[in-house]
Amino acid sequence: MGYYENYGPDAVIASATPRYVSLHPPDWTFDEAELRQAFNNNTKAIIINTPHNPTGKVFNREELTLIAELCQKWDVLAFTDEIYEHILYDGNEHIAMATLPGMEERTVTINGLSKTYSVTGWRVGYILANPELTGAIRKVHDFLTVGAPAPLQRAGVAAMQLPQSYYKELARLYQQKRDSLLQILDKVGIPYFIPKGAYYVLADISGFGYKTDVEFTLYLIKEIGVAVVPGSSFFSQPEAGSKFIRFCFSKKPETLAAAGDRLLKLQSILQGAN
Ligand SMILES: Cc1ncc(COP(=O)(O)O)c(C=O)c1O
Repeated sequence: MGYYENYGPDAVIASATPRYVSLHPPDWTFDEAELRQAFNNNTKAIIINTPHNPTGKVFNREELTLIAELCQKWDVLAFTDEIYEHILYDGNEHIAMATLPGMEERTVTINGLSKTYSVTGWRVGYILANPELTGAIRKVHDFLTVGAPAPLQRAGVAAMQLPQSYYKELARLYQQKRDSLLQILDKVGIPYFIPKGAYYVLADISGFGYKTDVEFTLYLIKEIGVAVVPGSSFFSQPEAGSKFIRFCFSKKPETLAAAGDRLLKLQSILQGAN
């Protein structure tokens, strides 16, 4: 499947029974029949993440329209995590689920300051939903966390007044970072999926001959000096992700260059294996 790790445990904490719909490489799209089958009278909500961590997928209008149609047919809410909405490549467009016909009242749009304003340690997020839903969400939020730190919220208000040029520049800078990581992976010879959005690259490590992605990740950290996340941690069935690792390229250019120098040491292993 491939999803941000928190959704599964969060669903369980909320006493929901998660049902997973797979996203299939190389485009990380879902199978229409499998998606349709996942909906039934007990379905309360669907979680969608676009742009997507860890695959970099950006859901297109056709895919979102089908999800919207099923949400309306089964009277289901859509939780859409759009935290990477401004980090898009190659002219890809972000489509907000709430903008689709009939979806405004049944969508809970989730977003945050972390990615757009490069403040991942702040943990300031926000949601947009209809007042009936936000009434309940505010109560749960109050009981769980009380509230976000007020000074950081004020900084958020200032950030949200930045001009459009800020967002354009953000996407341009990330595109440079993405391209420099992809060049490194090309040079080393590691296959990958080109991300359309977000700031991760999912790479295929089958060529290295390691038993598991976790073993390979530990080797990369200890021997090569580059930290990645094992692919299995993003899959409901860990085996499905065990031939992948996830690189994050939200780093300074000099850090990416240093990682590139270190990763070049892997070339000899791949050459030895082939
Ligand atoms: C898809 C997605 N949603 C939400 C978050 C959470 O962001 P934060 O806790 O920084 O607000 C992340 C962070 O990695 C993410 O990748």
